[in-house]
Amino acid sequence: MIYNSALVLSILISGSWCLVTKDLKFPEWFKFGAASAAYQVEGAWNVSDKGENIWDRLLHKRPEVAVGGANGDVACDSYHLWRRDIEMAEELGLDVYRFSISWTRLLPNGFANYISEDGKRYYNNLIDGLLEKGIEPVVTIYHFDLPQIFQDLGGWANPLISDWFADYARVVFTLYADRVKTWITINEPFATCDMGYDLQHGPYISDKKIGKYLCNKYSLISHAKAYRIYDEEFRPKYKGKLSLAQIFIWYDPATPEDAELTDLMLEYWEGRYSYPIFSKEGGWPPNIEKYLADKAKKEGYPYPRLPPFTAEEIELVRGTHDYYALNHYSSRLIRKARPGEKIGVYPYFGAEELGVQIENDPSFEIAGLDC
Ligand SMILES: *[C@@H]1O[C@H](CO)[C@@H](O)[C@H](O)[C@H]1NC(C)=O
Repeated sequence: MIYNSALVLSILISGSWCLVTKDLKFPEWFKFGAASAAYQVEGAWNVSDKGENIWDRLLHKRPEVAVGGANGDVACDSYHLWRRDIEMAEELGLDVYRFSISWTRLLPNGFANYISEDGKRYYNNLIDGLLEKGIEPVVTIYHFDLPQIFQDLGGWANPLISDWFADYARVVFTLYADRVKTWITINEPFATCDMGYDLQHGPYISDKKIGKYLCNKYSLISHAKAYRIYDEEFRPKYKGKLSLAQIFIWYDPATPEDAELTDLMLEYWEGRYSYPIFSKEGGWPPNIEKYLADKAKKEGYPYPRLPPFTAEEIELVRGTHDYYALNHYSSRLIRKARPGEKIGVYPYFGAEELGVQIENDPSFEIAGLDC
């Protein structure tokens, strides 16, 4: 399934209509926006000198993994129809439009040795077109579409990815930071790592014991290097804001006895991607780090499966934020799993690792997005 934050924003916007009909008003300062991701809207997957990314490869090779064999070859064709898309954003009355840059459209080789002129021009046009209409561009540097060349070298599980990403981010800042003031480095690394290494998302790998935790660590280090580059080389001149966008599923305990396990589940989902950046002391959330290290030891691994940060890495990542960004999808109840019990409702990521059962609260209303 293609799991995307753009959907969530549109749900939020339609949700707001319910509030308006009850005579509740958003404050003046509230900004309405819509969001997209490059692979989701651009199409033009093989025009000009664009390189292949992991979603191009996945949905060409394994069309059965997307509903109805859909892919992003053409999508909304926003690569060609961007002028009309900006008009529609204006017609909707949007204050902001969030979009992502396709890494291989800008850097066809993935590496920063060659910048595509067509790629450069496309995003310049889009940014300038939005600004002309008074719509603020919010730019995601990475939204799921890794260059295939890097996936072939291990992708986000390879420690070198943090330098490749930092080089790419520097190119993006150099080209666009004069006009773009709000940045998201990486969208939902949980989706890439936890779901992508559990056959639910690109890169569509089955390696939830090791690969996903390497991806977890190196995506955070990648974010941090990009943040530090902005801080040192661009912030003094442009004064923008950066963060990364977190996936957010809230968990409540099914019974009071499940409170501790629920905290652990929240550390697992939200904490692994937030605590290293946002906490005062940095590093992995202590309870989940200990839980996973003890478990790996019991399983006979010579190392924790969640790779520890060095002291230097903790400092590199700690504090690399100017705001907190979250995409909230849904909420669930947590209780201890009974022996032999089948894992419960989606999204079940982490349930097996933590020995928990996931349930819907029957009193929750089911929204259109829920699955
Ligand atoms: C680009 O991809 C389309 C399929 O989406 C294909 O029909 C077309 O031949 C390709 N063009 C080039 C130049 O490879």
